[in-house]
Formats: sequence, C-alpha cells, structure tokens
Amino acid sequence: MIALIFNKKNGWETSKGFEMKEVSAPALNEKENKTDAHAVIIKVHYAGVCGSDRGIWLRHAFRDQILGSLEMEQKEHRIVGHEFFGEVVQVGSRVEAEYHIRKGDFVSCESHVICNQCFQCVRGEKHVCTNEKILGISHDGAFAELVKVPAHIVWKTNTSKIRPEVAAMQEPFGNAVHAARKVDLRGKTVALCGLGPIGLFAALVAKGLGASTIIGIEPNEKAASMARELGVDYVIPLKPQEKTHPFEHDQNIVKEIFEITGGIGVDVSFEMAGFNSSVNNAILSTRRGGDVILFGIKSGNFTIEHYDRLIVRGLTLHAVIGRRVFETWETTRSLLEDTRNGIQEKMFNVILQRGEGTILPIKDYTVERFEQMMLHHPKILIQF
Ligand SMILES: NC(=O)c1ccc[n+]([C@@H]2O[C@H](COP(=O)([O-])OP(=O)(O)OC[C@H]3O[C@@H](n4cnc5c(N)ncnc54)[C@H](O)[C@@H]3O)[C@@H](O)[C@H]2O)c1
Ligand SMILES: [Zn+2]
Ligand SMILES: [Zn+2]
Repeated sequence: MIALIFNKKNGWETSKGFEMKEVSAPALNEKENKTDAHAVIIKVHYAGVCGSDRGIWLRHAFRDQILGSLEMEQKEHRIVGHEFFGEVVQVGSRVEAEYHIRKGDFVSCESHVICNQCFQCVRGEKHVCTNEKILGISHDGAFAELVKVPAHIVWKTNTSKIRPEVAAMQEPFGNAVHAARKVDLRGKTVALCGLGPIGLFAALVAKGLGASTIIGIEPNEKAASMARELGVDYVIPLKPQEKTHPFEHDQNIVKEIFEITGGIGVDVSFEMAGFNSSVNNAILSTRRGGDVILFGIKSGNFTIEHYDRLIVRGLTLHAVIGRRVFETWETTRSLLEDTRNGIQEKMFNVILQRGEGTILPIKDYTVERFEQMMLHHPKILIQF
C-alpha cells in the first residue's frame, strides 16, 4: 500500500518532509499475535494534517519519540498521521462481541493508543495514560491506505449526520472541545490567544456551548479573517512590539481586552498558540477569579510575569492534553451532529474552504505541493 513515512535511512537531521512509499499493508494474524483478536484494520478515506505533522515534516518535534519507538520495534520507517476517517475492512475475532465494531462501520479514532491498565487508565483518566503511544509518532499512523489499531480507540461515526471531510477533523476538534469543557462557558466572556485550526475550532465550540463574547488574538491576517467569518466578536491583530524580554505580554492586547470587557478582563482565556508571551497575555487578560486554559505546547521553560498577581487575583490555571476518552468524543458528536449550531457547515465552508485547494488526492502528492498547501491553509486533508 501507499503511505507517507519518515524513513530512518534518510536520517532525522539530514532530511525533511514525508517520503511517499509502497510499504507492506497491515494484517491481522491472531496465531502469532494475540492482541490482533482486539485489533481492526481501517481503510483510510481522509486524513487530516495537523501542526504536529508540520513539526515532524520540519524535524522540529517528536525526534526522540519517533526514533526511540522505531528502535524498540526494530523498524525502519514510521507511517505518520493521526487524524483520520475511514471504513473498517477487517476485525479481530473479539472485536464485534467486545467493542460492537463491525466490518463496514465508518470510524474515526482517538490518536492516543492508551493502555487501559495504568494508574490513570483504571481511574477513567485515559487522556493521561502513562504508557500511551501516539498514532503517527510512536505507533504507525493514518497517512496510508490502511491503518491497524486496537479496537478500544475506535470511534464510530454516523455518516448520515457528519460529512466525511468533517469526520476526519473530529480528533483536533475534540482538542478544542476538551479545552472548552474545562469550565462552564455559558454566558462567559472568552479570549482565544491563537487562532490556528484548534483556536478556530475553539471559537465554534465556545459559541456552541454558550459563551457570550469571544475575543481572538492572532498575528496572521488570513487566520484572523477566518475567525471573523466564524463569528468571533472581536479579533485583535497581534503586532510586533518593543520588549525587554520576548516572554513579556503584549501591552496593547491586554489593554484592548480590558477595554472590550469594561475594565474587568475576560472570564476565561485560552492559550492556543504555544508562546510564552501568549501565556502571559492570557493570564493578564483574565479577570480576578477567572480561568486560564493552557493548551499550546512548546518544550522548555516559560516565565510567568507578576507571579504574585496571579495568586492575589485568584486565577485558576488548567493544563489540557488530548481528549477525554470517550467523554470528549461524545460532546464532539453532539456538537457536530446538531446542524442548528452551524458548526459543521462552518468547519467545511470556512476552515476547509469547501475543499478548494485544501484536499490533496494521495496520487497527486509531491513534497513541494504538500508543503505549499500546509503553508497556505490552516487545515488540509489527504484523500486516500
Ligand atoms: N494540548 C494538546 O493536547 C495539544 C494538541 C494539539 C496541539 N497542541 C498545541 O496547541 C497549539 C495550537 O494548535 P494548532 O494546531 O492550532 O497550532 P498552530 O501552530 O497551527 O496555530 C497557532 C496559531 O497561533 C498564532 N500565533 C502565533 N503567535 C501568537 C501569539 N503570540 N499570540 C496569539 N497567536 C499567535 C499563529 O499565527 C497560528 O495561527 C500549538 O501550540 C500545538 O502544539 C496542543
Ligand atoms: Zn493533531
Ligand atoms: Zn494507561
């Protein structure tokens, strides 16, 4: 089968992008591998490209996880990709009875391959599993014609209610749902610091869950205009500013948010860019007693400005990772299947631009084409 891979023989530092390669198709062999009784093989229809795939493409992120897991499995390449939608084409002998998943079901997948056995998993906190593997990073992923996964991470999708292109975005949309469900957003004022795909999804989710006013912060004009189209009430452009240290907050952002909220600050801020200054913007834009949802990721140390003020102002900080399995997926389904809220329509028409220039048939893949698409659109899909 055709797959997009990171090939170890090209070296991590000495290569870029994904190699399109004919690789052996996954198979179920219960005699040799007992766990295959609980596995399924899915024919991928659409796979979504996310910021972490861009990180692998540029070799900026996940080096140790990819090389380490390939070493352990004694494998030469990793199939990348973790957001997808497709059809179940083969199931292990225990799958129908134990997971109610059948050949012919249309499905998406939780991208964290959780163990179901560690301290967190047995307490229902599977999103923070100690032994998790991640599809497309430490487990072969979905940029391929077929993907094999354990049945316990498979999520059935009703294609009469959710269109396949949107179904392929359930995983990152679920990130936004998980973040937005950390607190009750009904009637709340919200700041979204960063309007990449997940920030844009978060705008739709926050509105869908009843937030009153949404303020977005974003340096990129295209992303900012998409946010306006999605119904974000105020979009504040982030402009370069003189600072003593790069970690410092942007004074005009905090000032404008206070002006919009009548000098109070927002009830809830979401950091969805992954920059230190953006974390400080989120904290300093939040009202006394409010909530700060930390979602963006960057490795290394961050500096919090005016740490004492954070305590004295009585803020609550929440770190959000992945999706709750499957609680978040259930909310995701409700928000997507309820067409009255317009979320699905906006995801397809605005974020995916009706598929115009955002969907790449795998036969047309070239490194240059794919890179251009990633550069120009917040969300792109590969069609298999
Ligand atoms: N916690 C999790 O489970 C999880 C899962 C997926 C992604 N992430 C992280 O969440 C973040 C958002 O994901 P994404 O895919 O939308 O990322 P992205 O990088 O595509 O989007 C980030 C957006 O923030 C904007 N931005 C840059 N600097 C900014 C600043 N100082 N203030 C405001 N906006 C700024 C960028 O222009 C871009 O539009 C990333 O950091 C990503 O690594 C976290
Ligand atoms: Zn992702
Ligand atoms: Zn676990």
